[in-house]
Amino acid sequence: MGRGYYISKQLAMAMALLAVLATSTILALSVAYSKEKSKGQSTDTSTSSALPAPPPPSDPWDKYRLPDALSPQYYNMTLWPRLMMDAQGVYRFTGSSGVAFICMKETDLILIHSRKLNLTLFNGHHAKLSGMHGVVAPAIKKSWFQVETQYLVVQLKGMLKPGKSYWLYVEFQGELADDLEGFYRSEYEEDGVKKLIAITQMQPTYARKAFPCFDEPAMKAIFHIALIHEPGTVALSNSREMGTKNLTINGTKVIKTRFHPTKNMSTYLVAFVVSDFTYISKPNDKKIMVRVWARKKAIDEGQGGYALSITQPILEFFEKYYSTKYPLNKSDQIALPDFNAGAMENWGLITYRETALLYDPKTSANGNQQGVLIVVSHELAHMWFGNLVTLKWWNDLWLNEGFASYVEYLGADYAEPTWHIKDQIVLYDIYQAFAVDSLVSSHPLSCKEEEVNKPEEISQMFNTISYSKGAAVLRMLSEFLTEPVFAKGLGTYLKHFAFGNSEYSDLWDHLQNATDETPELKLPHSVHDIMNRWILQMGFPLVTIDTQTGNVSQKHFLLDPNSVVERPSEFNYEWFIPIKWMKGGLEQDRLWLLRKAVVHKSMKVSRDEWVLANLNVSGYYRVNYDLENWEKLLNQLNSNHQKIPVINRAQILDDAFNLATASILNITLALRTTKYLSSEREYIPWEAAFRCLSSLYLVFDRNEVYGALQAYLRKQVTPLFNHFASITVNWTIVPLGHSDQFTQIIALSLACRTGLQECLDLTQTWFRQWMQHPENNMIHPNLRSTVYCNAIAAGGAQEWDFGWRMFKKATVAAEATKLRSSLACTREPWLLNRYLEYVLDPERIRKQDATSTIGYIAGNVIGQPLAWDFVRARWEYLFKVYGAGSFSFSNLINSLTARFHTPFELSQLKQFQVDKSEVGFGSGTQALEQAIERTTAKIKWLAENQEHVLQWLVSESV
Ligand SMILES: *[C@@H]1O[C@H](CO)[C@@H](O)[C@H](O)[C@H]1NC(C)=O
Ligand SMILES: *[C@@H]1O[C@H](CO)[C@@H](O)[C@H](O)[C@H]1NC(C)=O
Ligand SMILES: *[C@@H]1O[C@H](CO)[C@@H](O)[C@H](O)[C@H]1NC(C)=O
Ligand SMILES: *[C@@H]1O[C@H](CO)[C@@H](O)[C@H](O)[C@H]1NC(C)=O
Ligand SMILES: [Zn+2]
Repeated sequence: MGRGYYISKQLAMAMALLAVLATSTILALSVAYSKEKSKGQSTDTSTSSALPAPPPPSDPWDKYRLPDALSPQYYNMTLWPRLMMDAQGVYRFTGSSGVAFICMKETDLILIHSRKLNLTLFNGHHAKLSGMHGVVAPAIKKSWFQVETQYLVVQLKGMLKPGKSYWLYVEFQGELADDLEGFYRSEYEEDGVKKLIAITQMQPTYARKAFPCFDEPAMKAIFHIALIHEPGTVALSNSREMGTKNLTINGTKVIKTRFHPTKNMSTYLVAFVVSDFTYISKPNDKKIMVRVWARKKAIDEGQGGYALSITQPILEFFEKYYSTKYPLNKSDQIALPDFNAGAMENWGLITYRETALLYDPKTSANGNQQGVLIVVSHELAHMWFGNLVTLKWWNDLWLNEGFASYVEYLGADYAEPTWHIKDQIVLYDIYQAFAVDSLVSSHPLSCKEEEVNKPEEISQMFNTISYSKGAAVLRMLSEFLTEPVFAKGLGTYLKHFAFGNSEYSDLWDHLQNATDETPELKLPHSVHDIMNRWILQMGFPLVTIDTQTGNVSQKHFLLDPNSVVERPSEFNYEWFIPIKWMKGGLEQDRLWLLRKAVVHKSMKVSRDEWVLANLNVSGYYRVNYDLENWEKLLNQLNSNHQKIPVINRAQILDDAFNLATASILNITLALRTTKYLSSEREYIPWEAAFRCLSSLYLVFDRNEVYGALQAYLRKQVTPLFNHFASITVNWTIVPLGHSDQFTQIIALSLACRTGLQECLDLTQTWFRQWMQHPENNMIHPNLRSTVYCNAIAAGGAQEWDFGWRMFKKATVAAEATKLRSSLACTREPWLLNRYLEYVLDPERIRKQDATSTIGYIAGNVIGQPLAWDFVRARWEYLFKVYGAGSFSFSNLINSLTARFHTPFELSQLKQFQVDKSEVGFGSGTQALEQAIERTTAKIKWLAENQEHVLQWLVSESV
């Protein structure tokens, strides 16, 4: 899926950034806020193997995996969604579908997935079976639903014969619910009129809820699809329309749209949409028809223009990169008002949240624009990797999503070459992955096929590890193979498996061959041997370099020094580590650390030289040095920071703070890495610093350290604030550079947060002007989140109610999101409590936005205890209404608990875990365990470090 972010990218990463800036919901020391792409689920699937095994199921229909006796060839189906309630007050769809399959092994049993569908009976059976090409089919003995494993079971009186083809036909009716799964309905309002659309989300296991099918990714088939819909609506599917017909069925006038047959593809990529949307397209699209669809109003306002303008270049980029033509003849992308994931890569008909596809230059920030770019690039990357070649089973999901999460940056960079967007992978994937992967509750990227069976286990694969760690290790692989070799192996892999399925080791084979054909490339081990250490064991190494002795060693990095690793690893938590490094400001030849420790003479340095390892954070590891080298790096930062590459300036900060959290480095040394910031002007280091500092706020914003922290940071950010005031002619224009615009937001956000009076005056004045002229919002879109949040925090009910009215009026989704998050910034408890009540009213806050809104409120220091009480009191309800199939519960738990650092809070957390164990925690199960782990570690850390932090801050802020 697309970043839905997360899940595939549910929110665009940059939008998550904005939300974070706006509400000061920043990461706890170890919590990644989940970018939209990583749906943020992180339940550990492999622990299931540690549970006592249930007795082996005896019947084939009790197993979650399909037997291999039957192989589908094609489906013929017609679906008819009703966008009006029937007499019982239910929205329904009806359909008929036939599937042609070949019998591979003799059997008298047909298992086909079907869930929540009412099947018409034919002679008392749920299906009709016939033979094809003159074959006689056995009669049906018995048919029933196996609810737990989600099958329609058809038992036959005789045997199906190997090599013969059969036709299974069903007619059915289902509910067009608003549950965001399978074939569902979405409601939205346009010009005061309520409108409905019928859309699909099949990944991972919901196709079976739209039509009976062999719902596994390796069961590829061709789909002949037809849709029946009302006049005035348009139907879309994976392939181009073949034609439409006017029909009258039972006196009702309808349109039937038929589509060209699809390519051979997986069920989870099937899609159809019925809406009254409209589109824009480019006249000159060569042979590929490229269209962007959305609500009429959004299209009329030009909000689809940006997505359309980047689609063609990104497709061209991937055609070259993959050495493979775009496999289809059309590419539709559609923006949906209600969509759980950020986006979904249905082949030829990609579905997006509005915020992930639409961009309105008048009201959207450049972060929104970047979000669109990244998500579109991610989904288009899947058109080859994932769709043309599909992983055999969901246990390899990490390769599919990690891959798209890596190459999305390459496609995006091609479309916007001046944005330096490739560097941002460090912020938005690698550091996210580190945060989760440094806990003992992490898990390996790859798990065994047998460990992933049930739909819940499959859903749990969509997590930060799969997306972001996957992206990080693939980037590292591409980096040490070099991009041409990586792309070459990729090209032969795609060619070999086109329209079929593969496993991750198949990709390694192809990359190995590409490597072997490049003699100048010398790897110390095979691609398999190197990569197995990164994908089969959890975590990542800390590389420690002693520049006094030249000793280089590695150790599994754990954020909590007291945690105990229980998960065994066949590689003993050692890795084969490529080290790109610098000495005295010059890049050196790459070294490989292949053992626990080794002496590299070249790393022993003379008195004034420093060593810097992991250049551009191209490797998935952290680095520590001897104290002398740290001092030299600090000196370099303070005297001339430009000598250190920009990504590594961020790395020094981030590594130092994390090493301090893990009690490996003194916290005062970590704090000292922030001193040079008064002369830093680049985005990536500031963003890294902003996150490290925000994690300090999370532990210190309710105690005595707070005042000193404010004073020190105000001092550090003031030069940046003044810099932007001057280059923007007193905030009348925005800087030209794309990333400078991000830095400007940080400057404003941090200056206001630390109470810099000029900043507070500025934001309040702007907001007041807007309140006086609501139709004329002069606040620059980039700065809106920050301005809204600070003004609402400084104001009272009047400001809040104005914000709420503007939220309800907003026609651009990105603008609505900014307001929705800013409303959580108020410091009035009664307003926060009222807002919490609004969350549970879908007329006020969309269902898809409920849990994130609670998260915003929890990000506010005053809102946090209110949100925590609110969620605990209504857990059953929340879980029932928002929990099933939702990927956002881990984000919710993370935001509720991010501030926890006292023994009392820890006991509350444990009590919560016990109290609600009957109800369960769904996708938040793992997040809850991580929260307990994190809180425990923080209590201990604070006891040891709080006093030093206070003293240092006091001494530096005078
Ligand atoms: C279907 O009917 C509409 C008017 O009701 C008409 O405009 C359209 O051309 C018809 N389409 C076909 C394929 O006959
Ligand atoms: C037409 O109406 C009859 C009676 O209401 C109903 O039984 C039948 O299913 C309807 N046909 C379709 C295709 O909806
Ligand atoms: C790799 O090369 C070897 C030797 O040429 C060949 O036998 C093998 O089939 C190739 N593998 C792949 C995956 O192309
Ligand atoms: C960290 O450094 C400070 C100041 O240099 C010192 O007072 C403190 O004892 C050190 N803390 C630890 C845990 O070594
Ligand atoms: Zn994806």
